[in-house]
Amino acid sequence: MKILLFGKHGKLGWELHRSLQGLGRVLAYDYPEIDFTVPSSLRRLVEDIGPQIVINAAAYTDVDKAESEAERAKLINAEAPALLAEMCRDLGAALIHYSTDYVFDGQTGTPYTENDAPRPLNVYGQTKLDGEGAIFQAGATSLIFRTAWVYSMRRASFVSKVLSWAHSQPEIRIVDDQISNPTWARALAEITTQLLAKAGPDPLPWLSERAGLYHLAGGGFASRQEWAKAILQNDPDQTHQVVQRVLPARSAEFPTVAVRPLFTALDCGKFERTFAVRLPDWELALNLAMETG
Ligand SMILES: NC(=O)c1ccc[n+]([C@@H]2O[C@H](COP(=O)([O-])OP(=O)(O)OC[C@H]3O[C@@H](n4cnc5c(N)ncnc54)[C@H](OP(=O)(O)O)[C@@H]3O)[C@@H](O)[C@H]2O)c1
Repeated sequence: MKILLFGKHGKLGWELHRSLQGLGRVLAYDYPEIDFTVPSSLRRLVEDIGPQIVINAAAYTDVDKAESEAERAKLINAEAPALLAEMCRDLGAALIHYSTDYVFDGQTGTPYTENDAPRPLNVYGQTKLDGEGAIFQAGATSLIFRTAWVYSMRRASFVSKVLSWAHSQPEIRIVDDQISNPTWARALAEITTQLLAKAGPDPLPWLSERAGLYHLAGGGFASRQEWAKAILQNDPDQTHQVVQRVLPARSAEFPTVAVRPLFTALDCGKFERTFAVRLPDWELALNLAMETG
């Protein structure tokens, strides 16, 4: 199997690069070696490689900065994925792409299914939603996995932030009104790899039968405060924690440039019913992530 992977230095992309190795030839790229804002170079690269599978883990993920860099976010999150989908269609390849819980407005109070209407509150969410639409419009064999609150132990994320606060401050305040599914990048990469392994050496027919949009995130859901407390409990360096209190706060007390939706937990039932596999519960995955690094 010839796989072309984008975003190999990112949280998810790094784990994909690692886990995909057993499946065949993996050609992996990231910025600045390839720049999604330059469509001609992206087109040339995909044509030169002629992959069977394209996996796109590259994205413009700075949610606040996207508010002032909307055009760049759109090029990376919507237009480049659209081009990849068109090229996959023309080459007879399949596209695997990731999207976000931030396509939702967070108002429902129950986990979102794929049938719920998206309504992004910020530029990042809008550009990711536009990317989903453009991919499906291109008509390639595409699987889009909407995920949430992705962390890894090797790149900055909520986990590293909480640990650094806990090792330097006696009291931390964490919002308890933002709720979603913490998702370990490694588990997400490994489940993607498992699917491709199931698809076999001629993956297109198997993937075409299952093409579509899926919610795919850590099992269960938590508030940021619950997540932070679990991070502290699993910290292998607990003896160096100076934090004594983790206090609840409301998002409104910490205004950010981009508005965050509040309750964006994803219901991953469709994925589980289709593929007979699911991501582990978020607490278990966090425990494994912090134990193994
Ligand atoms: N992180 C989350 O909490 C979260 C939540 C829901 C969904 N997702 C989705 O999950 C996927 C993976 O996210 P992640 O957290 O692994 O992202 P990440 O760690 O930010 O990695 C994204 C990668 O894309 C690269 N990139 C940025 N601009 C580019 C450009 N112009 N051309 C080519 N590559 C470029 C980045 O390079 P630089 O580092 O050099 O910029 C980085 O290596 C994305 O589709 C994201 O939208 C993430």
